[in-house]
Amino acid sequence: MGRGAPLLWKDHRGREQKVSVHQTGGGCPAAPRQVDGGWALTSHAHVVGAAEDPETFSSAVSRHLQIPNGLDGSEHARWRRFVESWFTLERMADVEPVLRAVAQDLVEELADGAVFDAVQHLGSRYAVRATCEWLGWPSSVEDELLEWMARNVEATRSGDHTRTAAVADEFDRFITRMVEAGPAAHGLRVTDEVAAATVDGAVVGHDEVVSILRNWTAGDLSSVALCVGVVLQTLADRPEVQAECRRRVDDDSGLDRAIDEILRIDDPFVVNRRVATRDVRVGETAIAAGSRVLLDWTAANRDPERFDSGSGVDEFAPEANAEHNLVYGRGPHVCPGRPLASLELRTLLRAVLRASTQVERAGEPVRSLPPLGGWASAPLRLRR
Ligand code: HEM
Repeated sequence: MGRGAPLLWKDHRGREQKVSVHQTGGGCPAAPRQVDGGWALTSHAHVVGAAEDPETFSSAVSRHLQIPNGLDGSEHARWRRFVESWFTLERMADVEPVLRAVAQDLVEELADGAVFDAVQHLGSRYAVRATCEWLGWPSSVEDELLEWMARNVEATRSGDHTRTAAVADEFDRFITRMVEAGPAAHGLRVTDEVAAATVDGAVVGHDEVVSILRNWTAGDLSSVALCVGVVLQTLADRPEVQAECRRRVDDDSGLDRAIDEILRIDDPFVVNRRVATRDVRVGETAIAAGSRVLLDWTAANRDPERFDSGSGVDEFAPEANAEHNLVYGRGPHVCPGRPLASLELRTLLRAVLRASTQVERAGEPVRSLPPLGGWASAPLRLRR
């Protein structure tokens, strides 16, 4: 199918959507792939089309209260405004010095030439410590959280719903403990603020507070750890990318774009779920109402129709690809925590670059097993 071919996407009213073959670069997007009980959308055009059409592709995929992830429409918009208010520029300015101190401490521990695991050691500990400081949780829970992350990864990998439910319940009890612990002795005390906050004049209920904090932490601790692994492993494997990051070390937005592009090429945050609310055609594929639909961000971020301008999808082009990068999603559910995630990743990368002249391999990295992305383990060393 060439340029000028009919639009590929129709919204729930049968109107043509914004996503067109022109925007995909003129090719025919990869067809949705049948997966257990549903469909995985893998082309950039299809993933963007679904993410931007929440009336057809609902996020109400779970019986559990998930604020704001599992909500649609006006209920989603109401909670979304609340969630976004915790990631403003002012709030990020408060958290920046805290993150800088956490990053510097951890990087200083990595002696010249000592082998460290970028995911298991540096990324996980950084994610947990940064979160504890931000939310005002005591440092005594760091190890507990690290152990929980490991159990969560194992349960996710097993695909056993009883195990994943047990690990999720365990996390809810942990969050409840943190909320009930009262004012934090240190850190930014965001947990106490969320627990005391109001939405439309009403105090946020306990279940809502737990759900919000769970969604800020449960998956995102591992996401940040996996992102750290991908960024540092890429630096070790691609000298030209490392050199470009070193050139950008003092430039906030330049470094953010470089990190986003590294994550586009090897996106460890693989999928999000939706459910079709009506019969819909995606390209040539008929998807029935009620079908499970997966938005495969990792595949879409490597769609040659979108990202191959002649040198392949691995070409490192931070500025050229920024507009179409899907690492943080798209549409009404686009990641509200992006300012914090970017700040965390930039702060750690900057500390690593400033403390070293070279990031290099110290062994064979091991890929995460599906459904996780990125690296399970990435042995590296820093040369001072
Ligand atoms: C580290 C890297 C991160 C990546 C790659 C990432 C990626 C994403 C993506 C792709 C979505 C869209 C989900 C969808 O469409 O269903 C999302 C949503 C979300 N993210 Fe992130 N995220 C990251 C970090 C964070 C952090 C640090 C927080 C908060 C502390 C956060 C909070 C959320 C929330 C609450 C949503 C749901 C938004 C909604 O449904 O309206 N994320 N994230």
